[in-house]
Amino acid sequence: MSIIWPGPLGQRALSGDRGRSLLTATRRNRPLTPSSVNMHERVLFFTGRPEPAPTPPPLTIGYEPLFWRPSLTRICPPGQRLYPFAIWWLLHVLRVFRNREYGVFLIRHASQWVHRSVVTPRFFRFPFMNVRDLQVGDVWTAESERGRGLASFALLSILRADRDGQRPYWYLVDEGNLASIRVAERANFRRTALGTRTSRCGIRFFGAYQIREQLHG
Ligand SMILES: CC(C)(COP(=O)(O)OP(=O)(O)OC[C@H]1O[C@@H](n2cnc3c(N)ncnc32)[C@H](O)[C@@H]1OP(=O)(O)O)[C@@H](O)C(=O)NCCC(=O)NCCS
Repeated sequence: MSIIWPGPLGQRALSGDRGRSLLTATRRNRPLTPSSVNMHERVLFFTGRPEPAPTPPPLTIGYEPLFWRPSLTRICPPGQRLYPFAIWWLLHVLRVFRNREYGVFLIRHASQWVHRSVVTPRFFRFPFMNVRDLQVGDVWTAESERGRGLASFALLSILRADRDGQRPYWYLVDEGNLASIRVAERANFRRTALGTRTSRCGIRFFGAYQIREQLHG
């Protein structure tokens, strides 16, 4: 079944199509128009590789980075909640994650953890990824620390730490999240696709990100 958005990014909804859900459109096997999907569900897929990415600028004094990795006894990154990190740990130890590169990049300032970026391999939520690919997501900076380059530093540091300079990285962001889009752009990531996040049996956690439209060949 092919689902197509005919218009360019940011095209406004066609008034007659308002209210038709993604599910209904999909079931009826009709082309999916931009108006079939709520704007908050439209996701931009960025891809990049470590090698063309710029070197991360030095962090301001007082900010400390940590690239946390799990082990059999290290379940939760410091300062983070058990949910969802205990689940990511389970997916890692049970090898649901398709490679061994799961990790969390953290930044601490004045004894507070002020930034995290989570690196995950392919699993059911990201079916479009290949086995060796990685995805940087759940990117978050404390509100009082935003705009200081922490998210950009984290993404560039994650890329720099990867010895496989050619590994494909994915970065998924809501179409309207300009700050996060800038983070991807600063790492020279390219917009490669547009898609949505789906639910399974009404449960968002078990849903997946689906590519609906390729933006580059
Ligand atoms: C998105 C987020 C992680 C960015 O973190 P950050 O540490 O502030 O990012 P940076 O300081 O590296 O800034 C990245 C860029 O966004 C820009 N930016 C910041 N706020 C912005 C805004 N409201 N609108 C547009 N651009 C903005 C910055 O100026 C910077 O661009 P520049 O390099 O051209 O100056 C942070 O805003 C956040 O935690 N948001 C809530 C959670 C979220 O949306 N996560 C992303 C999920 S994909």
